[in-house]
Amino acid sequence: MCGIVGYQGREGACDILIDALRRLEYRGYDSAGIAVLQGGSVKIARKQGKVSDLWNMISSENFAGSMGLAHTRWATHGVPSERNAHPHKVGDVTVVHNGIIENYLELKESLKQDGRTFVSDTDTEVIPHLIVDYLDKGSGFEEAVRQALKRLKGSYAIGVMKDGSETMIAAKKESPLLVGVGDGELMIASDAPAIINRTNRFIFLEDNDVVTMTNGELKITDFDGTEVDREVKTVQWTGAMAEKGGYRHFMLKEIFEQPRALSETLIGRIREEEGEVVFDDLDLPDVSKIRKIWMVACGTSYHACLIARHMFEANLRVPVETDIASEFRYRDPILDRDDLVILVSQSGETADTIAAMKEARKKGLYTLAICNVLGSTLSRESQGVVYTHAGPEIGVASTKAFTTQITVFFMLMLYLGRLKGLLDSNDIRRHLAELKKLPRNITAILDSSAVIEEIARANMHYRHFLFLGRGINFPTVLEGALKLKEISYIHAEAYAAGEMKHGPIALIDENMPVVVVSPKDQTYKKTCSNIEEVVTRRGRVFLFTDTFDHDMASKSDAVFVIPETIYELQPILSIVPLQLMAYYMANHLGTDVDQPRNLAKSVTVE
Ligand code: G6P
Repeated sequence: MCGIVGYQGREGACDILIDALRRLEYRGYDSAGIAVLQGGSVKIARKQGKVSDLWNMISSENFAGSMGLAHTRWATHGVPSERNAHPHKVGDVTVVHNGIIENYLELKESLKQDGRTFVSDTDTEVIPHLIVDYLDKGSGFEEAVRQALKRLKGSYAIGVMKDGSETMIAAKKESPLLVGVGDGELMIASDAPAIINRTNRFIFLEDNDVVTMTNGELKITDFDGTEVDREVKTVQWTGAMAEKGGYRHFMLKEIFEQPRALSETLIGRIREEEGEVVFDDLDLPDVSKIRKIWMVACGTSYHACLIARHMFEANLRVPVETDIASEFRYRDPILDRDDLVILVSQSGETADTIAAMKEARKKGLYTLAICNVLGSTLSRESQGVVYTHAGPEIGVASTKAFTTQITVFFMLMLYLGRLKGLLDSNDIRRHLAELKKLPRNITAILDSSAVIEEIARANMHYRHFLFLGRGINFPTVLEGALKLKEISYIHAEAYAAGEMKHGPIALIDENMPVVVVSPKDQTYKKTCSNIEEVVTRRGRVFLFTDTFDHDMASKSDAVFVIPETIYELQPILSIVPLQLMAYYMANHLGTDVDQPRNLAKSVTVE
């Protein structure tokens, strides 16, 4: 997830762009760059590190000019470095890009065969090359950009400038981009916070929109050049509100971002037609020798491991051991050199998880990180890494990191299943079809958030909650209970529903509401019996299931129906209403949702 911004107006572009980049840094920052049109040619500067490092480098240089583009990068293809930083300039053409070009390898190959030379490891660099190619063949600037866009598969928001041209072109598909309409100036930006200090009038672009800006004149067309009408909307956001995309808290924004985050996790990794999962640069040792898989993490990431264990054992028939990182590192587990150790961490900086990775490496095991932050310690020091691509997560209580971790685990399960010869392309195709439905199904749940808010508001006075689930949804309720206690400070305990009789049933009365997650799988009937037992003891039940059942509905205080999916993917859907419930309770109780007391986003000490 990168941030892009562009300016065309009467003032000096450089200061405005740097200021906007600083506001976009929350989208990621491993390098930054700027391009300004100066005396007919586009001058660029790029720097690894933060926007302040870029500014320190260029503040004494002459970057005068009233049109420019800038970019803050959060690497997906190619390590963070100046060479891979944006803008990318090829010949006369300068491009900034946010998103992932899925077919960049094949485009790069064919451009190379035409004699073009590449200087970065990014997917982005194919874009200016393609534009230059069409310019060389005689197309005008706008037409060349349009032709290039038609060749791209994947997601992108781009800004383009050309030496000798007063025109800036921008386009978007499946990555965010808006136009800011200011007083005698036009801007483009990945999102509103970048430019809210200059204008509150925005055009929220739609997919396949191409924006052409020349001397303050704006035209929006589709890929074929037909003009489209887009409304200019005036928003009443403050800077802080805009950073949260208009949401009250980062956590709520991140819950609502999950459909997009999940889509980005999938980009470039699934080939549905071929029935294949691809992980670039992943070079696992001989998988046929793996005797056991270890999954090690802390907090929410540990819950993702518990879910993954169910899907791995069921589909790969290999024993999986899950461990809390702080336990793993001290208990001297019996490890075999051929075991695979998967370490999961949103931040990649959790001290115990890093120590567990080092412990495993010391014993000669292959370590694979599932991580969200590129360049983090865990991702650098593990032998293999698969990124979740969820984008920066700011709310302390983890949400989109969790659902994208499970998504990565699911793809990894398919990948290993293929390598081990247990799953064929038909099986994988079937699983991928289910995976691809998730963003839409999460959106359907989010569309009913008002229902969850009502449940939360009506029940937030309780001081204790019991959560019950079975099978793959036992970890889901562990995570649901964790969310509730973390941000609302309400005591919440999760149990495998089958364990209820072994203790927690003693707690049940009218003051102990019970949250039950139970889709209609093979354990549904058993959980129904648990519900009966709760109701008999005057307990109140909130049921989250995937099929409306009149009998259970009559016994429950509320029933929330989640879209159906396959067993392995259920937690990704059933956790969303639990995240929302925790959020709304905390919000109505007035706690500091994004920074709950005593907690830290990343625990970098033991
Ligand atoms: C802290 C955070 C949790 C997170 C855990 C593990 O406790 O508050 O939200 O799940 O650390 O963090 P990691 O970055 O390793 O996933």
